Amino acid sequence: MTEAAAQPAEKAKSPNAPTEETVLSVKHYTDRMFAFRITRPAAFRFRSGEFVMIGLPGDNGKPLLRAYSIASPSWDEELEFFSIKVPDGPLTSRLQSIKVGDKVLLGRKSVGTLVHDALTPGKRLYCFSTGTGLAPFVSIIRDPDTYARFDQVILTHTCREVGELKYGQELVESLRDDPLVGEHFDRLVHYTTVTREPWPNQERITTCIEKGILFDDLGVPPLDPAVDRVMVCGSMDMLTDIKHLVEKAGLKEGSNANPAEFVIEKAFVG
Ligand code: A2P
Repeated sequence: MTEAAAQPAEKAKSPNAPTEETVLSVKHYTDRMFAFRITRPAAFRFRSGEFVMIGLPGDNGKPLLRAYSIASPSWDEELEFFSIKVPDGPLTSRLQSIKVGDKVLLGRKSVGTLVHDALTPGKRLYCFSTGTGLAPFVSIIRDPDTYARFDQVILTHTCREVGELKYGQELVESLRDDPLVGEHFDRLVHYTTVTREPWPNQERITTCIEKGILFDDLGVPPLDPAVDRVMVCGSMDMLTDIKHLVEKAGLKEGSNANPAEFVIEKAFVG
């Protein structure tokens, strides 16, 4: 065999290599946040609340991938994502310029702990989010299974600025007439707080929990491990602070292998 014959013309792609998907829509909400939708390969399966690797080809030919929560519910024919824009972020500085028809890379496997399987049965589900940490809960609140498992679903979203709430506000409002979950709309509560601009509730969610403001506003008892379940997604500091508060209330952390009373996951940051 000659040298040339020993070298395959093109390296065979690994079966685990990301697939190339097409951008179907892009919507910019603020100079820090945008949402986009891409095609979903027929073979791509996920549970509502999970995350997947998303990216673009890198300069060195290697894909540049980051973990993104899937904002679509598991039955959606397309995949939706809610992203931060970091000016010097290796991926988001480029990803924020994607246009309809562009290609993005999608990992083949989704994983995550913000899933129903990681929680034991309860009556009330709290989804605490800050910034783009809202994304996995956009999936959860669109899934009919959520309303089959819980009597009430309380989605909290805290952002620096009012404009950053818009994606969640539009999404929640769209569920009013949703063919799958519209009939449960009155069991979904959307609680918004803004920290750096005037807003009716201008507190961090941690303050609202600690001072009981959240429970007073909603007319519900404080967190109770017997009936309340909690999912949390936000920055590392936010996760640490909420974890402390829910543990103080007596809730235990769960996982896919050992379901319990609360689960946490870090929102994508760079
Ligand atoms: P703040 O404006 O007081 O920092 P970010 O965009 O930095 O992830 O922040 C999103 C939201 O999360 C902001 O409103 C921010 O409030 C809030 N936040 C930041 N850190 C924490 C924390 N440790 N606990 C609760 N909320 C937090």
